Amino acid sequence: MNKIEGVARELCEASEFVAIVTSGDDGPHVVGNWGEYLRRMGYTEDTLVFPAGRYRKTEENLARNNRVQLLIASKKVMGTRTPGQGCVIAGTAEIVHAGELVDAVKAKFPWARGALVVHVENVQTQL
Ligand SMILES: Cc1cc2nc3c(=O)[nH]c(=O)nc-3n(C[C@H](O)[C@H](O)[C@H](O)COP(=O)(O)O)c2cc1C
Repeated sequence: MNKIEGVARELCEASEFVAIVTSGDDGPHVVGNWGEYLRRMGYTEDTLVFPAGRYRKTEENLARNNRVQLLIASKKVMGTRTPGQGCVIAGTAEIVHAGELVDAVKAKFPWARGALVVHVENVQTQL
């Protein structure tokens, strides 16, 4: 799959949190976000938006290497055999500091210093 559709969409609707991994000189770096924040910001088939309040190291990493992976999962979504599914979303990302998107993020999350924008390229289920 290369889009947020079908089971990936179900997971975006159900996941409690999102793990976001970037690569630094010192290896992988994992940060979090809430599924609720993703849903509040709205998302499309190929773009996910998160409020960025911290993410300093993430921003530093993305400036050097914009590849990113996200993991979302929920027991409420059916897997191949049993309840529970998760998927890895791979693509590129950037932290944006100005523009309409950032205004929309700040309107909902006044503490945000920008928007973490993920451009989806590949989606793989894990269960
Ligand atoms: C479940 C969860 C949700 C989080 N939500 C946000 C968020 O919406 N925005 C944010 O900037 N940091 C959020 N954080 C905190 C960051 O993951 C954490 O502060 C991170 O270390 C900061 O990024 P950095 O290490 O790249 O500087 C969240 C963490 C968790 C565990």
